[in-house]
Amino acid sequence: MDTIVRTADLRRVVRAWRNAGERIAFVPTMGNLHAGHGSLVAAARERADRVVVSIFVNPLQFGPNEDFAAYPRTPEQDRKILESLAVDVLFMPTVEEIYPRGQATTARVHVPELEDILCGAFRPGHFMGVATVVTKLLNLVQPDVALFGEKDYQQLMIIRRAAEDLCMPVEIVGLPTTREPDGLAMSSRNRYLTPEQRALAPRIFAALERAREAIEGGRRDFEAIEAEGMSELQAAGFRPDYFVVRDAETLGSPTPDSKNLVVLTAARIGRARLIDNVRVGEGRGAWGLGLGLEEEARRTSSC
Ligand code: PAJ
Repeated sequence: MDTIVRTADLRRVVRAWRNAGERIAFVPTMGNLHAGHGSLVAAARERADRVVVSIFVNPLQFGPNEDFAAYPRTPEQDRKILESLAVDVLFMPTVEEIYPRGQATTARVHVPELEDILCGAFRPGHFMGVATVVTKLLNLVQPDVALFGEKDYQQLMIIRRAAEDLCMPVEIVGLPTTREPDGLAMSSRNRYLTPEQRALAPRIFAALERAREAIEGGRRDFEAIEAEGMSELQAAGFRPDYFVVRDAETLGSPTPDSKNLVVLTAARIGRARLIDNVRVGEGRGAWGLGLGLEEEARRTSSC
């Protein structure tokens, strides 16, 4: 595995691969890798001749009072994991390499509406930072396919929308959330939890599962289901930002036309803010009716 820091070197390597007709898969990350990242890299390995993983803690997606400085950085451990997964190139740029003219004046990517709801309402500017850095990374790596986790469901929807609307020639693939045995979604931020908080953390997934079962059991009183989820998390000791049932395609409130639903939540405990979501009917065609699993990949359609 080659570790590349400079964009010019990355471009040179990628150009040679493309000239040789090789298929390239890309997994962007912020490092401190866990089995969730590992599942994306393994899927990338199966889908292409060449696999690029980036590790870049992107300052543009952190708010002024967020954890940019404290975000866990474990490059040596990460490098070993990626070596063992047969990654071809680890791209680990510096902040100056990605924002040579500084962050304040860099061109940026917005996805109106989607970027302002749910987590966007609590983290102003966050999804602009994500969409901007992912666009830059996709332009640098020029992959045929890029893989993302459903764990960050809103992020995945925003990246898909940006890729489609801006005619990026890449397939965006979303993969299921990897969980700890007790259900907690794996996340680099889980290390902010004290042992007591870690013991409570699986209650988030449990609350989401209860909502999913209620809907699959036929309930359609979504507002009541949302209120129950909020109360359940508050009673367990969390400060939930939201607990909502949404259309899985638009992230808007469910309509009679909604074919897929997703239940999403963000909840704070101690200094951690945990997010998680579950698809209703495991992403099947119509709310739990089992019309067949969709492949969560889409070619850019409008371009
Ligand atoms: P990061 O949190 O490091 O996550 C990198 C990728 O791993 C994302 O696509 C995320 O959804 C996925 N991932 C994280 N935890 C997962 C889990 N438990 N199961 C499956 N996939 C999981 O998300 C980011 O970095 C950044 O915002 C980034 C997209 C790299 C832009 O800076």
